[in-house]
Amino acid sequence: MTKSRVTLPAGMLFLVAATMMVALANSKTQSKQEKRPFGKTQDGQPADLYILTNNEGFEVAITNYGGTMVSLKTPDRNGKMADVILGYDSVSGYENGKAYFGGTIGRYGNRIAHGKFILNGATYTLAKNDGENHLHGGLIGFNKRVWNAKDVSSSAGQALELSYMSKDGEEGYPGNLSAKVIFTVLADSNALKIEYSATTDKETVVNLTNHAYFNLAGQGNGNILGHQLTLHAGKFTPVDATLIPTGEVRSVRNTPLDFLKPAAIGARIAQDNEQLTFGKGYDHNWVLDRTSAEALSVAAEAYDPQSGRVLNVSTTEPGIQFYSGNFLDGTIQGKDGKDYPHRSAFCLETQHFPDSPNHPNFPSTVLKPGQHFRSTTVYKFSTR
Ligand code: GLA
Repeated sequence: MTKSRVTLPAGMLFLVAATMMVALANSKTQSKQEKRPFGKTQDGQPADLYILTNNEGFEVAITNYGGTMVSLKTPDRNGKMADVILGYDSVSGYENGKAYFGGTIGRYGNRIAHGKFILNGATYTLAKNDGENHLHGGLIGFNKRVWNAKDVSSSAGQALELSYMSKDGEEGYPGNLSAKVIFTVLADSNALKIEYSATTDKETVVNLTNHAYFNLAGQGNGNILGHQLTLHAGKFTPVDATLIPTGEVRSVRNTPLDFLKPAAIGARIAQDNEQLTFGKGYDHNWVLDRTSAEALSVAAEAYDPQSGRVLNVSTTEPGIQFYSGNFLDGTIQGKDGKDYPHRSAFCLETQHFPDSPNHPNFPSTVLKPGQHFRSTTVYKFSTR
């Protein structure tokens, strides 16, 4: 008796095997992200925590309260995991907090002088919530709103889409702004991609960022003065004593703001320098040396010699606010009962320049009806 048997050519067998492997990999990355309750806001709205992971164990937890990155776990050079961002254990910490830990910042991240700007001949008045100035979107910015959440995981990685409709007149800004943020934990590297987008029905200003506070040695584990920082920026926007840009774009050469070559954050922070006095340390906008106007370009790198963790930041934005945690004063108790002493974390907020609506020489932050605002930032982790 002859057995009939289908024999496949070797090339085809390989193709079948490869297809099966891809399908298997996809089924892993497409697995539903974990979702847990994260408490209720004071007015009774429930918030959730979404856990995004890749196959390496890299893990980012995000809550739809404020579009907030709550934790980010990544290995050190020996493979030991640690949570490298500051935050709170539940929604009430974020509701009461004033430090903007991990939040999505909008409608306008950073400062607007005297809470005023003119658009099409109309003057808009915003809250003065930072001395005489407007900061991070006002009294109830995007970081204090409950966003709608949707699992949009794909073969690129586990992803969470958050959306928020900011009403015309909210916090004084014109136009109904429909904002969206997609957080993706990339399947093929220890990286978090954040994609912001927005549309409006009336001319407005937009500047969206994330306010994660990083400590690459692990949250609550000492200060960040020994971290080495590189900023791919030959210029910065000097500020006045209230941290509003003067309008000048100045070279970093021969100043303690020169991070073109890696330097320890603490090496020059105490130098006698007017800008450092105004900022109480580093709290400035650097003008990125972009290689292309639209593509992602490398903006910054931070390295913790102790743990070996490296953070690379790339962005489509023209600027980055490097803030050395100067207002952290040890009074905040964060996740897992950890204390957050002075300068125990740093922020790298990718952004358009502060107070752009009042500086025609800065890249425009105006969004018109029919236009689509888009901005992407990637935080990538590795070790050395
Ligand atoms: C930003 C500002 C800082 C400070 C922090 C939050 O980074 O530039 O001055 O307000 O937010 O504390």
